[in-house]
Amino acid sequence: MSLRMLRQRATGGALVRFAVEGVRFLERPDGTPYIQMDVADFSDVATLRWWCDWRQPSVQYPSGDDAFQAVITHRCLDGRLWLDSDEVARISNDELYRGGPMFLSRTHVPEGAYPALEKLVAIFNGIKTASIREFVGRVLTDQHIARRFVRCRASANHHHHERGGLLMHSVGVAERCLSCSSGLERSLHEVVIAAALLHDIGKLETVGEGPKRPPLAPWVHHEALTLEILAPHLHWLDGEWPHGAVLLRHCLTWYSTKPAGFAGFVGADLIRAMDGIDVGIGMGKGSGEARFEPFRNPLRKQ
Ligand SMILES: [Fe+2]
Repeated sequence: MSLRMLRQRATGGALVRFAVEGVRFLERPDGTPYIQMDVADFSDVATLRWWCDWRQPSVQYPSGDDAFQAVITHRCLDGRLWLDSDEVARISNDELYRGGPMFLSRTHVPEGAYPALEKLVAIFNGIKTASIREFVGRVLTDQHIARRFVRCRASANHHHHERGGLLMHSVGVAERCLSCSSGLERSLHEVVIAAALLHDIGKLETVGEGPKRPPLAPWVHHEALTLEILAPHLHWLDGEWPHGAVLLRHCLTWYSTKPAGFAGFVGADLIRAMDGIDVGIGMGKGSGEARFEPFRNPLRKQ
């Protein structure tokens, strides 16, 4: 159950999963020890009191970026969600990957990208092909990727150039692919969705959160870095569904070669077309601001 759903429910018990943002070791005035944690998921934040004796060596309290679960009771006080639990446990990697973007803490996401974060979770939850779902879940819970992905810009001064712009653009391309991919087999359709969500992730290393561009920006195209960043996860997918991993790489790279013809897999054409449309809409070309541009700027912009 998400934290937002919990907030909307009457008081009662529930199992919740969350990321931990901060930990304090406290005692009540009567000496009862407890751990107070700032917790979050994609939908909301809360304060959790874990009633345990943190002085005991057997207590495994949060110390990193792992995700946890707890059976809790809850209440709202002054607009803040308070949780109480007697048992908090680290979740397994399998559960972590199954949850994927639900563990992306809202506190790290620029406010303007909140709607895109909600859509990302909904799109992820719609992926039913186990290997593709786990692949995306692995990427979006990778500590070296996830927090940067939700804050990165999609360009320095072109489309979606605000912080969180990469998340907005990636979700935008995925949504457009969702609406245009009827006729594809389910598993291949989901390869396209995964590729749409991750097609610009190389911009973590060429655009960044800003305002200063990362050092790699003038040296390497972001498409090459997309493969580099995703490499460990693509290698995992190679072992689970080799053909899916091949098609995913094709979708992630084919459009960057500026091909004159069509791709071997129509999903790569879809990514290329929907990427262009999402950029165009983001640039105001679907509104009254649309204007005729007779020549493309020869200098490539990102
Ligand atoms: Fe793009």
